[in-house]
Amino acid sequence: MKKTLTNIAIVAALAATSSVAMANKAGDMIARVGAVNVTPSSDKATIYAGGNKVDLGAGALTASVESETQLGLNFVYFATDKIAVELLAATPFSHDLKVHSGSTELDLGKTKHLPPTLSALYYLNAPSDKFQPYVGLGLNYTVFFEEEFAPGVTGAGSVGGLNLTDLKLKNSWGLSAQVGFDYHLNEKWLVNASARYIDIDTTATFKAIDGSVPGKVEVSIDPMVYMVSVGYKF
Ligand code: NI
Repeated sequence: MKKTLTNIAIVAALAATSSVAMANKAGDMIARVGAVNVTPSSDKATIYAGGNKVDLGAGALTASVESETQLGLNFVYFATDKIAVELLAATPFSHDLKVHSGSTELDLGKTKHLPPTLSALYYLNAPSDKFQPYVGLGLNYTVFFEEEFAPGVTGAGSVGGLNLTDLKLKNSWGLSAQVGFDYHLNEKWLVNASARYIDIDTTATFKAIDGSVPGKVEVSIDPMVYMVSVGYKF
């Protein structure tokens, strides 16, 4: 009985030691890897060509951006035991673009983008807790590339004779806000989940009808970005 109590005391002492060892402190770094999902707001953007709304007979044409999941990387550096800087990076996202004419929907094209986001995080709990919820505010820069129209809307014989070409999306600066948590499994490993809103607005420009009519769409992508990951602490 006495031996059991001694063992319990030793186990408790070890547990206390390990919780001190896993406490967040200034200079710590966490690398996280996982899945990132970008779900754009469901707002539909009106398409303008030659300064006018485009109407194929079922109301103004609108465009939307579809959601995508990619491999996400995320690095955290602790400036103090509760305040950290986080960089979100990912492999390029490829989003499908859709065009809507009344209830008809067709493929407009696609664009790739990278949304690096630098955030300041504030951890809410005591630095030695296993469960570490945090809130964050950040700055996002979204780079769009490899924009292209779908076969149905470009070239001779495209829908409505539109023949769309020269799609270009303007890069975007915006603020982001997030909530998330780390759950420490031991001194080195943790699991993480986060949800953030990023203000991403872009102007898509293009040419219509054999390049003769300039067109544009102001798109508020404003996505929710969800990430689940495994982290390693250095
Ligand atoms: Ni916005």
